Amino acid sequence: MRFDIVTIFPEMFNGPFSSSIIKRAVDDGKIEISLHNLRQWARDKHHVTDDYPFGGGPGMVMKVGPIAEAVDDLRGRFEGSVVALMTPQGEPLTHGMAKTLSSLPGLIILCGRYEGVDERVRSNYCDMEISIGDYVLTGGEIPAMALVDTVARLVPGVVGDIQSTVEESHSGYLLEYPQYTRPADYKELKTPEVLLSGDHAKIERWRRDQSILRTARRRPDLLEKAGLTDEEKQKLKQTMDKEDIRANG
Ligand code: ADE
Repeated sequence: MRFDIVTIFPEMFNGPFSSSIIKRAVDDGKIEISLHNLRQWARDKHHVTDDYPFGGGPGMVMKVGPIAEAVDDLRGRFEGSVVALMTPQGEPLTHGMAKTLSSLPGLIILCGRYEGVDERVRSNYCDMEISIGDYVLTGGEIPAMALVDTVARLVPGVVGDIQSTVEESHSGYLLEYPQYTRPADYKELKTPEVLLSGDHAKIERWRRDQSILRTARRRPDLLEKAGLTDEEKQKLKQTMDKEDIRANG
C-alpha cells in the first residue's frame, strides 16, 4: 500500500516514520510513504498556499488551486488511491475505518493548516474527511501520522505477529485486557494467578471477561457494538451489580 502525504511541513514526518515498525515496513517494501510539499503545486512566484478569507474574519484559509493540482497530479499517477482530508470536522477515525482503508492500493492524505481549507477542496477534491478526535490540533500533520500508523500496521505483513491484529478484530469494540510480564511478584504487587496457571482456555476466558469489564467501566458507548453473548451480558450485569452494592452499601 502507498501513502502520499501532502503538507507544507514535510520535515515534521521524518522522525515518526524513520523508526520502529513503520520504518521496517517501508524497508521491506510492504508500504511506501511519499511526502509532498504542497508548495510545488502553487503556481505563483512565492509559492503561496494560503490567503485571507472572503468575508473577513481571523486567520488564513488554504487555497483551492494548489491542493486541486496536487490531487489531480497524484490521482493521475496512482490509480485507485483514495483522497482523505485531515480535519476536526471529519468522520471519527476508528479501528473499523483503518481496517477498510488498509485494503486500498493507496491513500492520498491532505494535511489542512491554519483556520481551514477552502470549501471547494472539501466538496470537489476529497473522497473523505477524517478526524482523530474531538479536539483541535494546529494542523493535519499529526493526525496524518496517526492515520498512517494505524492503517499501515493492518497491512498484511507489517506487524510480524499477525495474531495480535487478528485478535483485535475478533474482540472488535472491546478494550484490551490487562497484561503482565516478569517478575510475577514485584514488591508485593502480584500477577493474577490464572495467568501463571498454564490453563489456556481459562486464561482466554479471563482475558475476555476482563476486556468486557474494562470496556463497561471506561467506554460503555462501545459495548453495544461488541457483540457479547447472552451469557457474557448476564455475567457482566452480576459483576456490576456486586460493585454497586459494594459502593453504595
Ligand atoms: N486538524 C486539526 N485538528 C484535527 C483533528 N482533531 N483531526 C484531524 N485533523 C485535524
